[in-house]
Amino acid sequence: MVSFKNKKKNFIIIGAQWGDEGKAKMVDVLSEQVDLIARYQGGSNAGHTVVTQNKKIVFHQIPSGILRKNKICIIGNGVVLDLIELMTEIEYLENCGVDVFNQLIISDRTHILLPYHRLLDQARENQKGGSKIGTTNRGIGPAYMDKMGRTGIRMIDLFEPSYFRKKLYSVVKEKNFLLRKYFQKSPIDVEKTIHDHLRITKKIKLMVRNMPYFLEKKLSMGKNLLAEGAQGTLLDIDFGTYPYVTSSNASVGGACTGLGIGPKWFNDVYGVTKAYTTRVGEGPFPTEMGAPLDAILREKGAEFGATTGRPRRCGWLDLVALKYACYVNGFSGLLLTKIDVLSSFEYVDVCVAYQYQGNLITEMPSSLTVLSQCRPVYRRFEGWSSDITKITSALELPTQIKKYIQFIEKAVQVPIIWVSVGQDRKQIFKNTASIFLKI
Ligand code: IMP
Repeated sequence: MVSFKNKKKNFIIIGAQWGDEGKAKMVDVLSEQVDLIARYQGGSNAGHTVVTQNKKIVFHQIPSGILRKNKICIIGNGVVLDLIELMTEIEYLENCGVDVFNQLIISDRTHILLPYHRLLDQARENQKGGSKIGTTNRGIGPAYMDKMGRTGIRMIDLFEPSYFRKKLYSVVKEKNFLLRKYFQKSPIDVEKTIHDHLRITKKIKLMVRNMPYFLEKKLSMGKNLLAEGAQGTLLDIDFGTYPYVTSSNASVGGACTGLGIGPKWFNDVYGVTKAYTTRVGEGPFPTEMGAPLDAILREKGAEFGATTGRPRRCGWLDLVALKYACYVNGFSGLLLTKIDVLSSFEYVDVCVAYQYQGNLITEMPSSLTVLSQCRPVYRRFEGWSSDITKITSALELPTQIKKYIQFIEKAVQVPIIWVSVGQDRKQIFKNTASIFLKI
């Protein structure tokens, strides 16, 4: 069982790879022990899947902690919020019996992702052809461009309808020009956009708060917080494999800037990594397996995008990349997920360095040209054939897995605190076989 022994802790959970590491399950399990669960970046590009009582629920913008009664879930200012998608998600959850209206809080500084962001994202990707990023087409890049370009529209603006109207008209002038003249696409209907957004604002207005004050008050009262990152460190706008990244800070710094609280409040940062690697979209991926192994792994691990349904690219675990993610985020511990998917492979490879133009390198290169020419140097581990999905303690793990896990810990010098062996909430346990005795 995963527990903090009732310690009042505030912590951050971050993807240590290219997203889809299984963060949602970890957030779901740990949210039982906190009062507040917050999303601090990204938007409806995220797809967080939780399986409970054989029911699969996919979250895009609302933190999955909403499934726990009486927990407060927060959408921070670092998120770009698609209100139309949000309403669909709220209605779905309300129909499942979740009291979203009483549990969800939204920062009034959150930028709104508008219909033209989505259209521009799709149009730009189509135009790029072979050099496309492979985005989720949800409008994320264009929405963050407007935020940084100071032409964004925030939640608070929707409470001032005449200001919102004026601002939208002035912004849309440029967007529609681009859509029509540059991309040869249909322009957006401004009046419909205003109408739809003001209607939704009325429905959600009681959820909206001036977040730094809300959080300071709650944290000072001793309430504890789990900040959940979306995507992963290698998709971070600053530290990822730029430009094949998302447009926000998915790594640790995003938690403070995306919520409006200082680092003093956080006790720990946990990274989530799969026992292998996947990536959706374009960009270099040194440990990508290729056929036929990738197809086997994809099938066994159900590696298809939760948002787009795209098949994920699959590869072996990359310790160069994982160690880099440990440095960027300062992880206090790691959660290893989906190790059960590797069962029945004859062997398991793990990348310990890259070979680049005849040299061995162990640092993640900043240059994409270099990274795309890096070849993985593998250490091979003996496979295991037993089904481990029913295991409830690390002591029951086959010796080959213990060796594999301990090798990872030693390489990255961060304890693997939890091991997950299946999709269900119950298929997770503490790693009492860690080489770090005090976990
Ligand atoms: P965007 O975030 O839609 O702009 O997409 C940029 C890159 O991030 C693309 O490679 C996407 O496939 C990837 N991406 C965005 N969200 C996720 C996610 O939740 N999981 C995995 N990859 C993601």
